[in-house]
Amino acid sequence: MIKVRVPATSANLGAGFDALGLALNLYNNVWFEESDRIEILAKDGFDVPNDKTNLIYEAIQTVYNECGVSLRGMKIIQESKIPMTRGLGSSSACIVAGIMAGNYFLGNPFSKDDLINLACKIEGHPDNTTPAILGGITVSAMDNGKVYTVGIPLNNDICFGVFIPKFTLKTELARSVLPKEYKREDVVFNLSRSSLMIASLFSNKFENLIVATQDRLHQPYRLSLIDGAETVFDTAKRLGAYSACVSGAGPSIISFIDRKKIDNFNKYAISMLEDKGIKGWSFVMLEHDNEGAKIFI
Ligand code: HSE
Repeated sequence: MIKVRVPATSANLGAGFDALGLALNLYNNVWFEESDRIEILAKDGFDVPNDKTNLIYEAIQTVYNECGVSLRGMKIIQESKIPMTRGLGSSSACIVAGIMAGNYFLGNPFSKDDLINLACKIEGHPDNTTPAILGGITVSAMDNGKVYTVGIPLNNDICFGVFIPKFTLKTELARSVLPKEYKREDVVFNLSRSSLMIASLFSNKFENLIVATQDRLHQPYRLSLIDGAETVFDTAKRLGAYSACVSGAGPSIISFIDRKKIDNFNKYAISMLEDKGIKGWSFVMLEHDNEGAKIFI
């Protein structure tokens, strides 16, 4: 049996819609064993399909199809700590686990770059799948269906406080509320901030994040789908975060925090929300993951 460990991810990071992504130290651990039949077990209590429609299995199937090999079955045991449909890359983690396992069982015909492309093809955009594979912060661009990407390790001074609501938000719904066209000034607004985000993270100019996470392409349209979001942003600010933004398509909200302030967040984040009548959210303090998906044999 092999194990594949894949990190959670937070996509967009504010202005970098469908381009920026960050790997976090919250994991989906998946065990695989070759088998003549499909056996799928979730040890984490998540209700996942246990047939060929299971996303992990579909990802393995894609790898086998690409190689022209027939897949008879697979034993899969999942133990995921990544909450589902919350904007933390749970489906990307499943896709990446499946393609890494499929590649291993077929004798590693695909390089890491091939796997990045394959994962993006299954998911539809690269900003969760690429950091899940590479770790760190990734910047990705698509050209003619190919992903051009760089993954860069992050500095340890910054931590990530993630506010996670009880309710879910499907990415398809969160994408359906976005406009088809944007004004030039809005595009320029995002281009400048997305670039500022990357430059600031790598030069430790974290005080820039308050501006770098501003966005006019997706967050303004999605906030009405995230009940309590304004109060969460306000709480993160009062507790001293550099900034906060919607994680991926939402509904979770990720805040960027100086390591020295993490006790403050751990103690007061939820009680401050509850005092303002916002119930049902949880808070988790995370670190970045610089390793990306790993196979344990
Ligand atoms: N970039 C994607 C979005 C991430 O915001 O819709 C969610 O998969």
